Amino acid sequence: MRIVSSIGEMRTDARRLRRQGRVVGLVPTMGALHEGHLSLVRRAQSECDALVVSIFVNPLQFGPAEDYARYPKSLDRDLELLRPFGVEIVFAPEAAEMYPRGFGTHVEPGPVAEPLEGSARPAHFCGVATVVLKLLNLVEPEAAYFGQKDFQQVMVIRRMVEDLNVGTRIAVCPIVREPDGLALSSRNTYLNPEHRRAAPALYRSLRRAQELFETGEHCAATLLAEMRAVLESEPLAKPEYAAIVDPATMEAVDRVEPGMVALVASRVGAARLIDNLIFGPAGDSDDHLIELALSAAAAG
Ligand code: PAJ
Repeated sequence: MRIVSSIGEMRTDARRLRRQGRVVGLVPTMGALHEGHLSLVRRAQSECDALVVSIFVNPLQFGPAEDYARYPKSLDRDLELLRPFGVEIVFAPEAAEMYPRGFGTHVEPGPVAEPLEGSARPAHFCGVATVVLKLLNLVEPEAAYFGQKDFQQVMVIRRMVEDLNVGTRIAVCPIVREPDGLALSSRNTYLNPEHRRAAPALYRSLRRAQELFETGEHCAATLLAEMRAVLESEPLAKPEYAAIVDPATMEAVDRVEPGMVALVASRVGAARLIDNLIFGPAGDSDDHLIELALSAAAAG
């Protein structure tokens, strides 16, 4: 496992791997790795024969009042977690390497980046799209792996890759959760024990919507009212939004069909948490639900 921090070296190493005829997979992360990240690494490992994992807390995607300065960092531990996977290269650059003096070009994502996270965090998706395009250009992987956890993020990236003719396949992997339903997130470390107990309210609200959907309720307003009621029954949750959208546009729908997506964001104590669920038939596998959402997005 080579630890690379320079752009030149990253490019040369990636070229060498491709010249050896290996199928290169990229897993972009901001570090503070957990089982959610490792599930992406596992998927990439099963589909590729040379893995690059990037660890970079990207300043461009944080707003001025956000948690860039206190975002958890644990590079040594991250490297230990990655070691058993036979990762070829860990790319861990400094901010000045990625954004040297004079840096001035940004990706401006389209309408899928506007609602929800885009409106709560105005420059966020521009920052995400810019850093991801830089990583894709550097590594030129066959496939890059992202989590459904950040559903709007992966839709923004898929749109960017299609619009800008990037040759990488963008794979989407299911959400890894704690036993009580809380989606794993590096930001869960901000939760004190009391807030940690309150945090599964996000997932409970999503499950409630899916349960009603399974009984035949397709009216988005009804499902949303139930989701909000669950969130509001948790006094420590401070909900920001609850929405049911068509993944093609990330716009709200009136009638909920399989492949549509419910998303919630809430502050819980010092953390801002997000979660989502793809509607589908009872008992459907996570991977199949992702396929449903991606084909709904492609049809849109
Ligand atoms: P980060 O939050 O570190 O997440 C890296 C990848 O792990 C993302 O694709 C995210 O969706 C996925 N992930 C996070 N929690 C997950 C979970 N519980 N289950 C499954 N996958 C999970 O997302 C980013 O970093 C950044 O925006 C990045 C894409 C690296 C660009 O800077």
